[in-house]
Amino acid sequence: MRISIVGGGYVGLVTGTCFAQLGNDVTIIEINAEKVTKINKGHPPIYEIGLEDLLKQNAGKKLRASTGFEAIASADIVFICVGTPQKLDGSADLSSIESASSSVGTALKNNLSYCCVVVKSTVPPGTTEKIVQPVVLKTSGKTEHEVGFAMNPEFLREGRAIEDFMQPDRIVIGSNDLRAGKHVALVYQGISAPVIHTGLTAAEMIKYTSNAFLATKISFANEIGNICKHLGIDVYEVMKGVGYDPRIGPSFLNAGAGFGGSCLPKDVSALVSLAKDAGENPVMLQSVLTVNEQQPFRMVALLEAKLGSISGKRIAVLGLSFKDNTDDIRESRAIPVIRELLQKRAYVTAYDPMAISNMRQVFPGIEYCSCAADTLAGSDGCLVMTEWPEFSRLDKEFDQMAHRVIIEGRRILTCKGADGVCW
Ligand code: UDX
Repeated sequence: MRISIVGGGYVGLVTGTCFAQLGNDVTIIEINAEKVTKINKGHPPIYEIGLEDLLKQNAGKKLRASTGFEAIASADIVFICVGTPQKLDGSADLSSIESASSSVGTALKNNLSYCCVVVKSTVPPGTTEKIVQPVVLKTSGKTEHEVGFAMNPEFLREGRAIEDFMQPDRIVIGSNDLRAGKHVALVYQGISAPVIHTGLTAAEMIKYTSNAFLATKISFANEIGNICKHLGIDVYEVMKGVGYDPRIGPSFLNAGAGFGGSCLPKDVSALVSLAKDAGENPVMLQSVLTVNEQQPFRMVALLEAKLGSISGKRIAVLGLSFKDNTDDIRESRAIPVIRELLQKRAYVTAYDPMAISNMRQVFPGIEYCSCAADTLAGSDGCLVMTEWPEFSRLDKEFDQMAHRVIIEGRRILTCKGADGVCW
């Protein structure tokens, strides 16, 4: 199929590259000219395992990027993959969705065949039907018989996005008309996974609900961990025993510093905001966020319990990305921790295998080291914020600290003497 993808960010680029790999003809439409040049040269502007290899295989052949919308004139299907960032009140900012819909509609005027416009961005229920569809129909001058509409959420984990795309556990296609739903299913023919057809709003809600449930599991594990810590019980032992129940499942029960990233915090906040707009008081979802916000501060409090005042003390922060295998620092739990350390006048040294240049933009004034050992040397305390596998091998490096005070936010270390945030 001829596929146009609007938005060459994380989701658009991974989706477009994978569709090209499956043999489709893909054009990524991206306003940032620098990103366009990089994509066309086969250099991904973001880090994702396996992406560079696939992009190199397809760039200039099955895949190209452009700043213009011309490819839409001959597209069979258009995916909207633009950002829906969080506004100050927690709700989703839909301005990019609106402008993308308008540009797609204008470009569709020149498309003489049936084409489907598919929203892949995470959007509040009703967005595809009440914003995208009317804007596209108005700007294109076409009817619902000429343009189909669908909502097809992504479930791509950073660091495993290619794998999640190629071997998904399900493909959700929301549409209010049968023809559009079938048309979108065609593009996934090469992939073996259950295809779930729903209405538009249900598909939009499935995405929020999935991420809110995952976030709830993590905050639940963290709250149980916080209780267990007082009782001298290891929450990891507890969750191992709990997770064997198939009704619960073992995944996403790793207690620690909490969840970060571009999706979980943003999507739970958007759902809270949606619920409030609907006149509901979403106490449970709000608690999920509260537990998550407090968890990093518990690490600093533990540090102070062991060191006393941290003013003027040298504190090593290991891990800056929101999880391992990515350079992404969005909503990383290291951010509130470093902010708190600086507020308490600690001297912060930090190390991450990939995310230093990104974190330097948030905290230009702290000391960044080129390896964990240098970060630890001479420090009074250490906080482990990210589950990078290389941290699991650290041991003797901690002996170089002025005081061997180690607080773990992820259960990753194998050495003795570390204190977990909630174990
Ligand atoms: C998430 C969803 O998993 C994915 O399906 C989606 O649509 C996009 O959002 P991602 O943000 O890449 O993916 O990361 P994920 O692997 O879900 O981890 C999110 C955060 O939760 C990380 O900070 C991670 O460290 C934390 N986490 C995860 C825990 O604290 N405990 C766990 O048990 C699992």
